[in-house]
Amino acid sequence: MPGYGLAAAQAQHAVHELAQLLAGHGVAVSYAIHPVAGRMPGHMNVLLAEANVPYPQMKELDEANAELSHADVALVVGANDVTNPAARRPGNPISGMPILDVDAARSVIVIKRSMGHGYAGIDNELYTNPKTGMLFADAKAGLGALVAGVKTLVG
Ligand code: TAP
Repeated sequence: MPGYGLAAAQAQHAVHELAQLLAGHGVAVSYAIHPVAGRMPGHMNVLLAEANVPYPQMKELDEANAELSHADVALVVGANDVTNPAARRPGNPISGMPILDVDAARSVIVIKRSMGHGYAGIDNELYTNPKTGMLFADAKAGLGALVAGVKTLVG
């Protein structure tokens, strides 16, 4: 799940490197593209295309949500509002916005620098969900650390 932080960190090449490494070990990888992730229409698609991510791996909201319910791991890279379960409840700035159902995955890893807010300025309860692990880092640095970790573990 890429978001604005992926663009801010220019981490599109790093995420593709991790995906390729995992795919080389038999992991099926998809990218979940929320229509308003980032700061302009098509922001995520343009970035990922620049890194040569194959178009068939980029899933739009509905297709991504169908996959998330049977995903082992959801890796959120610099996305916040578009993953916030608060959207399912009334009474907040993102109420009613369709979201990526990240919390449907078996486990969740979020790479961002802090517990800080996104564009809408509200807390994200995904970050305190017991199935979520927070990797506090710049997106590019965090992905680099994951790539190094995977290489250490599986060669
Ligand atoms: P946001 O909710 O804005 O969250 C982005 C997150 O990226 C922040 O919480 C920030 O957390 C993190 N971040 C920033 N720099 C980072 C870095 N270098 N490395 C890692 N993480 C970094 O993003 P989203 O989930 O993509 O949602 C987009 C929001 O923008 C929506 O609310 C949407 O409505 C709004 N919006 C979209 C558009 C279009 S057309 N796409 C236009 C206007 C507004 P940390 O500070 O903790 O790192």
